[in-house]
Amino acid sequence: MLITAGPTQEPIDRVRFIGNRSSGRLGIALADHAAQSGWQVTLLLGPTTRTPTDSRVRLLRFLSTADLQAQLSENFPNSDVLIMAAAVADYRPAPNPDVLDSDGKLRRSAQGLTLKLEPTPDLLAECSASRRPDQLLVGFALEPRQRLIESARAKLVRKGIDLVVANPLETMDAPMIEATILSRDGSSIATPGTMSKEQFAPWLLERVSASLAGRTV
Ligand code: CTP
Repeated sequence: MLITAGPTQEPIDRVRFIGNRSSGRLGIALADHAAQSGWQVTLLLGPTTRTPTDSRVRLLRFLSTADLQAQLSENFPNSDVLIMAAAVADYRPAPNPDVLDSDGKLRRSAQGLTLKLEPTPDLLAECSASRRPDQLLVGFALEPRQRLIESARAKLVRKGIDLVVANPLETMDAPMIEATILSRDGSSIATPGTMSKEQFAPWLLERVSASLAGRTV
């Protein structure tokens, strides 16, 4: 089982980056629980101070979307399940040597500064494009409550994945989660109210196992 977790950092120069508030907490809990239930787990973990507690989890670290892309292309082909819990940047600073000094650092000036951002590759969609039929892909959709299910369903189809975990925006960097899992076959199941991310991890893994066994979520 291959799990990604945590934020990405997209470099502006050698010392600055654009990041996000993901703590990695859910992906780490998933990795620990999966290892405890007998899965051979690789966790690709972004820049966060949290780490898994189960020593059987194989841990690889990434900083940027480009790092994660390279690690996925190396590890995804040997995986049966991919759970993409990482909060991957949608945009990153486009390379622009004109604004950097010879040491690769951006210097302060009296003028304003405009950073041009370019879209990052959609890593989940890339994995889906190269998948074998027996591989199960799980994505996350962090959305405002009003259009949670509708947007998550669209993401499931657009990215060509099997399950999407729809959760409201408040979930990021929070200890608790309330989610609905939507499946490609049209079925869905919601958590019985709000639960801790540590309680949610085995609940989601049970749905992943059911899906692998050919049953619906
Ligand atoms: N994801 C990814 N590569 C990206 C951005 C996101 O693989 N460059 C993955 C995330 O890990 C998550 C899922 O895609 O599992 C949903 O990410 P999200 O940012 O919500 O979706 P987007 O496709 O970026 O759509 P939008 O920003 O329009 O909601």
